[in-house]
Amino acid sequence: MEKALIEELIELAIKQLEFSYAPYSHFKVGAALLAKSGNRYTGCNIENAAYTPTNCAERTAFFKAVSEGEREFQAICIVGGRDGVLTDYAAPCGVCRQVMMEFCNPDTFQIILAAGRTRYEVFTLRELLPQGFGPADLQ
Ligand code: THU
Repeated sequence: MEKALIEELIELAIKQLEFSYAPYSHFKVGAALLAKSGNRYTGCNIENAAYTPTNCAERTAFFKAVSEGEREFQAICIVGGRDGVLTDYAAPCGVCRQVMMEFCNPDTFQIILAAGRTRYEVFTLRELLPQGFGPADLQ
């Protein structure tokens, strides 16, 4: 992926930290999802007093996109940190990796983990979810 595009997604993900609703963990997460159409969808984590209804930033972005008709995706950028301060990479949880597996080609979908505007690393979904179970397994 081009550096300029990666940096744009990082900027969009960082912007989402403002909207993160994390009064319980205080761990704010932002995501920016790039569909194959070129459209961008953002997301933040949304916590809940009952804890389990909490939605991760990545899933917020995916569900927004799918609910608008997108089914194919190129990349997602994720940032996160306590009180929204980025000190390290915030890797996607297992549930979010599984949601990515539903809609993305694991060998080509790019997951950008960023700890700052110029500090990032790019992984494929296959690298973060080896031997993942997906729609093809039900064929
Ligand atoms: N969180 C995300 O938004 N994405 C992840 O992949 C990991 C965890 C959120 C959920 C919860 O609001 C907070 O981070 C602490 O777990």
